[in-house]
Amino acid sequence: MSRQRSLGIGLLGLGTVGSAVARTFAERSRHLDLAAGRPLRLVAAAVRDVSRPREAGDVPITQDPFAILDDPSVDIVVEVIGGVAPAHDLHLAAFERGKHVVTANKELIAKEWDVLHQAARLSKRQLRFEASVAAAVPVIAGARTLGASHPRAVRGLLNGTSTFICSRMESGATFDDALLEAQRAGYAEADPTSDIDGLDAAYKLVILVRVLGRPAHPDDVQRTSLRGTTLASFQAAVARGRTIRSLAIAELDGGRVRARVGPEEVAAASLEGGASGPTNVVTFETDLAGTLTFRGPGAGGPATASAILGDVIAIARGGASMTGA
Ligand code: HSE
Repeated sequence: MSRQRSLGIGLLGLGTVGSAVARTFAERSRHLDLAAGRPLRLVAAAVRDVSRPREAGDVPITQDPFAILDDPSVDIVVEVIGGVAPAHDLHLAAFERGKHVVTANKELIAKEWDVLHQAARLSKRQLRFEASVAAAVPVIAGARTLGASHPRAVRGLLNGTSTFICSRMESGATFDDALLEAQRAGYAEADPTSDIDGLDAAYKLVILVRVLGRPAHPDDVQRTSLRGTTLASFQAAVARGRTIRSLAIAELDGGRVRARVGPEEVAAASLEGGASGPTNVVTFETDLAGTLTFRGPGAGGPATASAILGDVIAIARGGASMTGA
């Protein structure tokens, strides 16, 4: 390994995803150092409640996020708190202090794209958010390679909890039982309304559209909740060789972006119809590159930690600026 100085990483948040990041550091530190080409050091994690038990290796814990932001040994801030406040101010504070930011926070990136990208540009630091869409599936990286093409549409399954619920209901489980299972598995948001009513998928869809260079905002995504879909509708669809999935679709042809999220029938034999558990499926339709489909685990601690650490490694290797704007 080269003799470059080590890079310090500070974690903001130690829930399902933050704990998975910390455990990965504890369990495969040497592997991460080799991948990064230099030593990586997890300096500390900031949490709201220090007394809460968690499985997060032996990372030092603080209640004060500024203990991490003001620490000169922290080069990269990994924000996995989620939501807009206080994450928004913490991102800006990180850039003001010359830190790179890596995040899984789809709501914040979708709503505050311009502000955050401008802050990153001004501070000449990177804002990376591969984990914010489809967790381990490299769809942000994929979308960035399509710059020469005209994108026509993005469609797919962007919410693991909804896909999990649909795949269980198709086999006869009730909506409430399936949701409980998704919550126990750590896929659902703290408030699962965001999953079920399509907000979570809308944030991710907006991020993909923005990466493709088109304007979008979560308020402009038409949403239909999965909650009204009955077992009888699943049975009727299955009897016709079809099933139901909560689809996120953005049509990009022409001047306007038309985006929607909600339950729709799909062929049972399609990639989307066959997706179960927290699987995400993302298809880009373009002119030059044709149709490209990505598929893989779109939720859960380890899958999200994989994407976060991929971004950390890219920064450590000095990849080109990925502020994306
Ligand atoms: N609640 C989200 C989902 C987590 O179910 O997909 C990953 O973003």
